[in-house]
Amino acid sequence: MDPATLLRHSLSVQMRSIRASTGHRCLRPRSLRLRQPISRCIATTSNPPHNGQSPQSDPAARSEASSAPKKPRMILTKEQRDFLEGALRVNQAGEVAATLIYAAQTPPVTRSHPHLRPLMKHMYDQEAGHLDTFNHLVAKHRVRPTAMYPIWHIAASFLGWSTGVMGREAAMACTEAVETEIGTHYNDQIRVMLDWFADAEAKGEQVDPELKEMVVTLKRIRDEELEHLDHAVENDAKEARPYDPLVNVIRLGCRAAIQVSQRV
Ligand SMILES: [Fe+2]
Ligand SMILES: [Fe+2]
Repeated sequence: MDPATLLRHSLSVQMRSIRASTGHRCLRPRSLRLRQPISRCIATTSNPPHNGQSPQSDPAARSEASSAPKKPRMILTKEQRDFLEGALRVNQAGEVAATLIYAAQTPPVTRSHPHLRPLMKHMYDQEAGHLDTFNHLVAKHRVRPTAMYPIWHIAASFLGWSTGVMGREAAMACTEAVETEIGTHYNDQIRVMLDWFADAEAKGEQVDPELKEMVVTLKRIRDEELEHLDHAVENDAKEARPYDPLVNVIRLGCRAAIQVSQRV
């Protein structure tokens, strides 16, 4: 993808993000209907169904209902609901930042290293897919997007542009630093949710399929982030100069952004 097309794609992704955020408050686009706040939908009640379909109209649910032993539903506590809302908010913010970083890095990096164009496009496309996923989940569960969006927009674009201008190795070191923090961050979320499931199952409760599906999604995205980390190391991230200060500052910034975005 040439730089102009990439930037157009980036802008399109950002506009979708903004529309989803705005829709949270008032517009409610038809494709992102806001019908299931976390406080109402994910296992906060012992009375299924959670998906708006009656068991009679859903063959899979009918089959499950007839074959599964009747267990009480796992009910999320307020702390668990708060955790999920914070997780979706910060994940959406992180994926906005990731698309902006790659969009800003790609023109300077591919200008001097055209052979990296397919790799940069591949990583950008995966980040755009992650952003679509979290835009959908944020809108579906009526999670408030981060109020820090304008700040992260500027910071991520600057980080991508500056490391891209510094050269291929610095751009890859940036990817290595960001993906190390993001991979750890997704792993932490997955571990917390699997602990919930284990506790629920120990108590004989049934875990909401929607929660299980969310963990599958997080694992897939975590694996793709770690794939980006591998690509960065394979493409000489460790050769960046000065490597340690650059990577440490970016990792620190990522950790701070994650903490802030969970709350603000
Ligand atoms: Fe991502
Ligand atoms: Fe990534």
